[in-house]
Amino acid sequence: MNYRHIFHAGNFADVFKHAVLTLLLKSLHAKDKPFVYLETHAGSGRYDLESEAARKTGEARAGIGRLWPRRENFPELADYFSAVQALNRGGSLRLYPGSPQLARTLLRAQDRMALFELVPEECARLRDEFARESQVQIFCQDGYAGLKAQLPPRERRGLVLIDPPYEAGGEFAQAFEALKLAHARWATGIFALWYPVKERAPVARMYRALEASGIRKVLCAELMLYPEDTAFRLNGSGMIVVNPPWKLDENLRDLLPRLLRVLQDGEHVGRTGVSWLVPE
Ligand SMILES: C[S@@+](CC[C@H](N)C(=O)[O-])C[C@H]1O[C@@H](n2cnc3c(N)ncnc32)[C@H](O)[C@@H]1O
Repeated sequence: MNYRHIFHAGNFADVFKHAVLTLLLKSLHAKDKPFVYLETHAGSGRYDLESEAARKTGEARAGIGRLWPRRENFPELADYFSAVQALNRGGSLRLYPGSPQLARTLLRAQDRMALFELVPEECARLRDEFARESQVQIFCQDGYAGLKAQLPPRERRGLVLIDPPYEAGGEFAQAFEALKLAHARWATGIFALWYPVKERAPVARMYRALEASGIRKVLCAELMLYPEDTAFRLNGSGMIVVNPPWKLDENLRDLLPRLLRVLQDGEHVGRTGVSWLVPE
């Protein structure tokens, strides 16, 4: 396994993913009943954007670096910005929260989260992040296998995020199978599956498999910065949401074009899309 998220932390795809995650977690606040947040590929929890690895790619500059000065235009993402702010008390933007830190900001006293991370060094950092947190469980193991054992959760309401590195061929199929299995065990949960768009073919295959799976209520959202004619780079990314909360489609149709305007690179015209792959 070569993938290390530090090279990509805070880039435009992270911003897209964390913005959608914020809306999903906030929707769970609509009821007082406890919820659970489960994450199969958690990463290390926080990333130093001044580290050598992050500086080498400089990807965060074109992601959170562009959004941060314009954060007042995105009131619906206030919790996301609070999670960023909490790590950067000094004012400058140096540390970036991974999804576990963001999710922690959105847990209430009655909620809990369980995180999986396979790489020992990343998982050790994650454990340090949440050392004294009784609401957070961390498992240093394969997230696909671990998720199975958690379902259905006792709370009967909550969200699963599946956010693999897509480093190995076949990860689209593996992620889809995990989603299908998890949904079979817990049909009422909310499931969010993030995917990269380098080229369309693997995404289209996954869509067809989803359509054929019998799973209903499948919403797809994408934010593309670049045209899809260069398969070697990340042109955009998407999120499949099964059982999305009420009005997520409308809220994303409002949010994503505004996000795109901030994130897009002057030379290219990007696009966003929000559509029902399978309706109710
Ligand atoms: C895209 S990164 C996660 C980023 C994180 N979700 C966030 O948004 O901040 C994917 C992570 O999955 C880890 N990983 C790779 N294969 C895994 C597996 N089978 N089970 C659990 N974690 C895995 C990698 O070490 C990496 O930290």
